Amino acid sequence: MPTLLVTGGTGFIGSHTSVVLQQAGHDLLILDNLCNSQRTTLPAIAQISGRPPLFIEGDVRDTELLARIFSEHTIDAVLHFAGLKAVGESTQIPLVYYDNNVHGSTALLQAMQQAQVRTFIFSSSATVYGDPQYLPLTEAHPRNATNPYGHTKLMVEDILENLYQSEPGWRIARLRYFNPVGAHPSACIGEAPRGIPNNLMPYIAQVATGERPLLNVFGDDYDTPDGTGIRDYIHVMDLAEGHAAALDYCLRHTQTLLTTNLGTGQGYSVMQMIRAYEQTCGQPIPYEIATRRPGDIAACWADTRHAQATLAWRATRSLQDMCEDAWRWAKASNAA
Ligand code: NAD
Ligand code: WQD
Repeated sequence: MPTLLVTGGTGFIGSHTSVVLQQAGHDLLILDNLCNSQRTTLPAIAQISGRPPLFIEGDVRDTELLARIFSEHTIDAVLHFAGLKAVGESTQIPLVYYDNNVHGSTALLQAMQQAQVRTFIFSSSATVYGDPQYLPLTEAHPRNATNPYGHTKLMVEDILENLYQSEPGWRIARLRYFNPVGAHPSACIGEAPRGIPNNLMPYIAQVATGERPLLNVFGDDYDTPDGTGIRDYIHVMDLAEGHAAALDYCLRHTQTLLTTNLGTGQGYSVMQMIRAYEQTCGQPIPYEIATRRPGDIAACWADTRHAQATLAWRATRSLQDMCEDAWRWAKASNAA
């Protein structure tokens, strides 16, 4: 079977998707510069899926390296996870974000074009919808980025549309993830943020393991039932399976530009997340109400009908599964 190139494959979403793809029989070549992940993820992927992926430590902006990869391997499709994702940081170092996320994508697409590889799965984000005008969010909702990170995702979405229109034969999926959480049930891989976590679930996990004293709940005065922010949390294994479905969809078509949400369609508030995690770990999660985080929206969840209709995929794992798998991983990685 030809090889799939997975950029960012040692990261959170890339590693779980790599497991699913290897288990489906694909051979993988992972390209990652390890700026936000660990080499130890590779034996963990091998342990779960039964064989090690090929790995090259390198940067997606390295055009010579890309040319070498495409000339030395028969690449069938590219799944592009590599990128920077911290919204707050993107406002402090926007050029680094544009360079990594936008230039990184164009360098990769140019190398693909030269090698005549035209199947590309892109990690977009629900952040492209900005502040929702209606819920649930359909793919037709107007796009509006509110920070540099979001702009990089908008720009790459547009670049992909331009590319699709410019040349026949491209098979492109723009996958808009909602809030990925959880971990592989084996607890061999999971989310491993460096420094203070930006996102809710890894922060709660570090409070539960005692690494941090309490959680700051960013605002309890939103227009939501309990006043705290509502998001569409999706188990990372459901998300990974969504990629396998999107890849199959692309490979079945001679050309396509697929744009789809990957979410559950169900929103949970910060307080509901705290309570669910408490149930799982059997101990209280200390928290205090803090001021709103700048740029946060009140609520956001996906309309999932398009993904169900086009990919025959939907998320199946529950909030309890998300908490249990996240907690198992938190304990395992904390003990390591
Ligand atoms: P992650 O940081 O865990 O994984 C990204 C991986 O890419 C890391 O292993 C990192 O080392 C690598 N990388 C970064 N820049 C690189 C470069 N220039 N060359 C090679 N490797 C590079 O993040 P993730 O949560 O797995 O996210 C994967 C993708 O999904 C990103 O593009 C992100 O923007 C997008 N996304 C993430 C979320 C989320 O909440 N996690 C939501 C929507 C979209
Ligand atoms: C969830 C809720 C917070 C931390 C971000 C990016 C988005 C996407 C996913 C990449 C909100 C609250 C959080 C904390 C809290 N990433 N919260 N205390 O903001 O929905 O999305 O990650 O594409 O682009 O913006 O996720 O997990 O940061 O926050 O109260 O310590 O938890 O206010 O209501 P968010 P999050």
